[in-house]
Amino acid sequence: MKEVYIQRLLRVPSRSFFLFGPRGVGKTTWLRKVLSKAPFFDLLEPSLYLELSANPDRLEAMIGDLPNGSWVVIDEIQKIPHLLDEVHRLIELRGWKFALSGSSARKLRRKGTNLLGGRALTVNLDTFSYKELGSIFDLEFSLQWGLLPYVQLDRENAADILSSYVNTYIKEEINEEGIVRRLPPFLRFLNIAGQLNGQQINGQNISREAAVPRSSVDVYFSILEDTLLGYFLPAYRPRAKVREQLRSKFYWFDPGVARAAAGLVYDPIDRLWKGVALESLIYHELRVYNLTSRKNRAIYFYRTSSGSEIDFIIETRKARPGLKPVIICLEVKLAEKWDRRWERAMRSLNESGRVEVEKMFGVYMGKRTYFFEGITVLPVQQFLEKLHQGAIF
Ligand SMILES: Nc1ncnc2c1ncn2[C@@H]1O[C@H](COP(=O)(O)OP(=O)(O)O)[C@@H](O)[C@H]1O
Ligand SMILES: [Mg+2]
Repeated sequence: MKEVYIQRLLRVPSRSFFLFGPRGVGKTTWLRKVLSKAPFFDLLEPSLYLELSANPDRLEAMIGDLPNGSWVVIDEIQKIPHLLDEVHRLIELRGWKFALSGSSARKLRRKGTNLLGGRALTVNLDTFSYKELGSIFDLEFSLQWGLLPYVQLDRENAADILSSYVNTYIKEEINEEGIVRRLPPFLRFLNIAGQLNGQQINGQNISREAAVPRSSVDVYFSILEDTLLGYFLPAYRPRAKVREQLRSKFYWFDPGVARAAAGLVYDPIDRLWKGVALESLIYHELRVYNLTSRKNRAIYFYRTSSGSEIDFIIETRKARPGLKPVIICLEVKLAEKWDRRWERAMRSLNESGRVEVEKMFGVYMGKRTYFFEGITVLPVQQFLEKLHQGAIF
């Protein structure tokens, strides 16, 4: 395989930061590229690990005489949480900037680590984006196998890579860290969570189906969330009067990993699965754009009382006294032809007057763009192009 570096959208912050993201999304590769001149400490290196965990104060000596404002990279920081006390001291004393990478904050928090107070930002890295892949982006392949760098750069072996990804994740991230004391219930949960990608989550049902206690289901989901393997997409409730219980949807960070968790990488995928994969992919791109453009908008789905849905709601202005919230609606369909009935939920929310709908979009698998009274219907790639240009929100 030839060596290619795919440029990432993420930019180096101006001050110290934590870089979190699931394993294999490219954190180490990115750090080595963008901070190539900085001393790089890889805590997976056994001798370095042993030395620094016994003598955290050696870090200063290893860095040496770098001027104020210089960058220092520590990869896999969760291996030695108490090293952060030393990092804290060096930020204050020497004025160095630290890039601290790991798969999640969870392990650091569990050890009661001081996360450097306000001294470090937190940034997340996700799998490759449409925008990053550019001309090598392949929609059909990505829906089936997802966007992990390993998978995208070795497409023939996607199924094997994904199934070993999930196994490694379980073994190293979950089991070894002692988050889950008993593995079999977690495995049953993971399988069901994989199958439920993109659905509203009913903890009770999952508890019954996976034969695990209700309280464990919540813990397991929080593990997936904390390790950035999945995201809860809440239901949008503009000015809800009653406390309607609307369950959030759960989306895996990557459709390929969801498929592997569900144990389906060696089975052909059906249209239903592929439809959810398309939603997952769009949600991934919305998140990447939202973060890298620093818009930080809240994203939701919407469900009408009659049960019809809008896949994504992006709130571009929160409700304020005397002002309705402003939103953008997005309906995603795995179809070559656009059916105008799919506009109904968006139009009815728009006409309800409860919110101010700024823009409405349909995204589908066809080739043509349409403008239907206030709704722009776009082929997937055109939509993604516009999204990353800042033309959606
Ligand atoms: N920007 C990139 N361009 C090309 N290949 C990449 C890129 N990022 C990651 N990879 C590939 O994916 C693999 C996993 O990336 P890595 O940086 O080790 O992830 P992480 O540190 O998040 O676990 C790397 O070995 C590399 O082959
Ligand atoms: Mg790494």
